[in-house]
Amino acid sequence: MKISLVATPAAELPVDALAVAVATGQRLSGAALELDKALGGVLSDMIASAEFRGRIHEVLPVPTHGRSGPRRVILYGVGASHDLDGQRLRSAHHELIRASRTYGYRHIGLLRAEPPLGMDSLKAVVEGCVMGTFERRSRQTGAQPERREIEELVLTGFGIGREHEVVAAQENGEATNRAREWQNAPPNELTPEALAQEALRIAQRHGLEVEVLGPAELRAGGYNLLLGVASGSALPPRLIRLRHRGGQQPGLPTQAGATVLALVGKGITFDSGGISIKPAENMSRMKSDMAGAAAVLSAIDVIAARKLPLDVMAVIAATENMPGPSAQRPGDVLVSADGKTVEIVNTDAEGRLVLADALTHALRNGATHILDLATLTGAAKIAIGHAASAGVSNDDRFWALVERAAKDAGDRVWRLPTFADYRILLRSQIADLRNAEYGEAGTILGGMFIGEFAGGKPWAHLDIAASSWNTNAELTTVLRGPSGAGTRLCIALAELMSGAER
Ligand code: BES
Ligand code: MN
Ligand code: ZN
Repeated sequence: MKISLVATPAAELPVDALAVAVATGQRLSGAALELDKALGGVLSDMIASAEFRGRIHEVLPVPTHGRSGPRRVILYGVGASHDLDGQRLRSAHHELIRASRTYGYRHIGLLRAEPPLGMDSLKAVVEGCVMGTFERRSRQTGAQPERREIEELVLTGFGIGREHEVVAAQENGEATNRAREWQNAPPNELTPEALAQEALRIAQRHGLEVEVLGPAELRAGGYNLLLGVASGSALPPRLIRLRHRGGQQPGLPTQAGATVLALVGKGITFDSGGISIKPAENMSRMKSDMAGAAAVLSAIDVIAARKLPLDVMAVIAATENMPGPSAQRPGDVLVSADGKTVEIVNTDAEGRLVLADALTHALRNGATHILDLATLTGAAKIAIGHAASAGVSNDDRFWALVERAAKDAGDRVWRLPTFADYRILLRSQIADLRNAEYGEAGTILGGMFIGEFAGGKPWAHLDIAASSWNTNAELTTVLRGPSGAGTRLCIALAELMSGAER
């Protein structure tokens, strides 16, 4: 989808359809009102009669019968303006594009709405529209239905000379879609080695430093928690690390005292639960247990392409979690890479194990700030549902940055508390920590377990188990299926921390 900014009056745009945003309870104004007048009031009529209410995800094509350049005006709802945030705004545009594709429009115009959408919405509009072009890659054989794609999106009323913002927003949207595609990929295709290959491709594209550790190196480094999870799988684990050295001239070592942001992703390419095996129903969904890895991989691709002036590392702990003759057992005690002993109480609480060692790896390589993203707990859905990622952090200042990045990116987060009282629940009778069976506060304790391995550095954890894949058919305004949660947030965080944000 080609995207351009023009100053052409809406009624003269050479497009199939012209999209006009409407908020509930609000009348048309500005250029939309002008257009309405040119059309003899047909748009305001649809709104006044409440045939079109402006509810989020409402999309209604209106024929113009030769009274304007575009053959159709598409009214699309953004909901109540007081409910409108970056995430809902993107969702509304996602739906606009999805619907437009089903109507078969190829050239779409989009008219900037008056406040509350405002000028700052350009990024949200473009990101949402690009995300609306997402189509999961089919592996079906035989004749495929004709795919209806939008060739061009023309934005008018946003001002010109903002092309660089459009390009950046388009990259962000495409990065999100890449993460969604990876989430959706079958687990026999997207193996730990395949994830490593994707990382190598990204490194090659940008000349990034890259390191992939296999079983022998992991044993040498003492990454026993990652190895323990991997032990039931026939596929070898991979600990993947990419490094964008943006803080210094290329080739020079990172300066002492410089910030090194580590983005750490859970890369379980399939989570059967291991010996603590999951029920069969919906187990195939666990192909997406690498959504955290997808987000950080996709994000560092953009961070490197943009040459952000900040050192950023992506660390991915990639393995399957399978049962098998050599699988780890509930009751096993393992020594983590940083020397803490961990009792494995439930082999299905594998994410915190691999992330613990991944954090140690990030610290060994100089991380000063750590954000980890993980499809960690089913309890995240119980606690806050699909509409946001659940946060846990040891540092208010770092969390404030994460929150700002989330706002910039329209990629919601909500922080959970970490009262000292919870810590007692992480204790084991036999080891320093246990990995499960806390009896309550599952999402918080999953996060706090990982936090034990942050070496006292500013750290935040995002549990994206629910936000990365909305399974609730009734929750229609949150992206359905794979969402790429965390991708744009990671990019925005790196931009904020490098001082390169707009
Ligand atoms: N990958 C799962 C969490 C998950 C559940 C992600 C549903 C997406 C949808 C994770 O490894 C897991 O199994 N967590 C356990 C932890 C428990 C054993 C402490 C869970 O949530 O039940
Ligand atoms: Mn699990
Ligand atoms: Zn898992």
